[in-house]
Amino acid sequence: MNFERFLVNFSKENVKGEYDIIIVGSGVAGLTAALNAPSNFRVAIFSKGKLNDGSSYYAQGGIAVALGPDDAVEFHIQDTLYSGAGLNEKSIVEKTVKEGIERIKDLISLGVKFDKTDGNLALTEEGAHSKRRIIHAGGDATGKELETTLIRIASRRSNVKIFENYDLIDLTTNGNTVVGGAFLNSSNEVEIFLSKYFILATGGAGQLYQNTTNPDGVEGSGLSIAFRAGARLMDLEFYQFHPTTLKVPLKRKFLISEAVRGEGGVLLNNYGERFMVNYSELADLAPRDIATRAVLSEAKRTNADIFLDFSPIGEMRIHERFPTIYATCKEFGFDITKAPIPIEPAAHYFMGGIETDELGRTSLENLFACGEVACTGLHGANRLASNSLLECLVFGKSCIEAILADSSTDNVVFDGSNELTFIEKPDLSFSRKDIQQLMWNNVGIMRSGDGLEKALVIIEKWQKEIKGMFSQSKHFLELKNILVTAYLMTYASLTREESRGAHYRFDFPNTSDEWLKHVVLDKLLKRSAVLIPCNPRSLSVNYRGVKSGEVIYRDVNTEASFKRNH
Ligand code: SIN
Repeated sequence: MNFERFLVNFSKENVKGEYDIIIVGSGVAGLTAALNAPSNFRVAIFSKGKLNDGSSYYAQGGIAVALGPDDAVEFHIQDTLYSGAGLNEKSIVEKTVKEGIERIKDLISLGVKFDKTDGNLALTEEGAHSKRRIIHAGGDATGKELETTLIRIASRRSNVKIFENYDLIDLTTNGNTVVGGAFLNSSNEVEIFLSKYFILATGGAGQLYQNTTNPDGVEGSGLSIAFRAGARLMDLEFYQFHPTTLKVPLKRKFLISEAVRGEGGVLLNNYGERFMVNYSELADLAPRDIATRAVLSEAKRTNADIFLDFSPIGEMRIHERFPTIYATCKEFGFDITKAPIPIEPAAHYFMGGIETDELGRTSLENLFACGEVACTGLHGANRLASNSLLECLVFGKSCIEAILADSSTDNVVFDGSNELTFIEKPDLSFSRKDIQQLMWNNVGIMRSGDGLEKALVIIEKWQKEIKGMFSQSKHFLELKNILVTAYLMTYASLTREESRGAHYRFDFPNTSDEWLKHVVLDKLLKRSAVLIPCNPRSLSVNYRGVKSGEVIYRDVNTEASFKRNH
């Protein structure tokens, strides 16, 4: 498998500006980084579309934080570890849960209006939380309130320049150091922007799947771009599917927040039975991976739809807590106050991503990652509900702390150029839809070795067809990145021969202590072999087209905290 390094042409003439910090992505992670940068830093935020086009805006449930009278950081840590099925990096969990409390206070002082009850923050429950600890805004419009407030403040900062409709295509490097990025502007021209520090906050990869809650444009390009530039990726076999989205034919599935079950809503099968009690002792509040598989299994067992019943919540409370869900379901002809609604699972959140340390540093110099595109080790094999916005807040700030702690005085040196032959209109035998279907069917909620192998073969075939073919069309460039990410996710899923958290394999249904390891994918084998001791067993893993040894493992027992030494 050959991973093309660059997808567009550029030279020094394309350089349009230089900043101290470039942030790609305008969700909560990217905006938090921007707002924490000191005012003497020239900061640029690049957004693929409009500033609030990403996943953050759509977050309903809220932010998990141990602030309740009966809660403590220890309980939140325990719940996160329980959900993560043994693969969380404990030090990262502790950091996030503790620092998260301070970051929520920052948000409140910035003017974010969280819902309150009797003058105190209103707290709700979600799957696998042992306490009520989810804070929210506008009932079920937490992401909207956060994004609106943070965008308003960032837009007023004189040191922050905002670029909308700029699509990152390639990272430009000088040796192992990232020095800038090549972007496609809205007129389809390549513009290079240089910076000393580069933060990727590009979000997840839900658009790799046929059914997803993620908006258009969230297709894992950040992962592919970073990997092609030489950054290590981790835990790519762990993709989280949300159990409850409204079952109507929508391009972006409409999420029905887990908070609905936290407030008393229950899942029912076609016979009106509360089937979740048969799948988990936590019943409707089981961890998300268990709930999603249960919904799928029960639908198959009964050969019928699965429903979510809001009635235990009560009509008044439904209106107060879930105004967005009420209004949207109504648009589709469902009155959630009157009858259960049909639901189905959809791709929602990527636990895996660009491997980072405790300050968001990646394996490439001056490249940082935060939010969904990063893999800090917080979520392990299955993210605890509403821990993601918390991670965005904590690591958005951590990236800036790492930058401020950096004492290097190197100047940005860019003398790169690239010459590819372009074609006007690539004629391909496959489409993005084909990839989404393939991933949904074979690298989805429940997997098998056969299905994963089949997917890998097909993705390779498409890769071969597209390899060496270049075009400056946005759609084509996205397709190239999607194929890389799809390949790596499938590869990692095939590598992990067990079931754990969100990664379930029919052919390896059990969880095994032997697999208390992260799967790390690295293009630069020589470097990683020096940095991280390889497990000898890993070197025998060799799937088609990938040299053995390109996969390495990091044992979470013996290397619980990731040490950078380069
Ligand atoms: C939800 O509201 O169910 C989504 C929250 C999350 O993904 O953590």
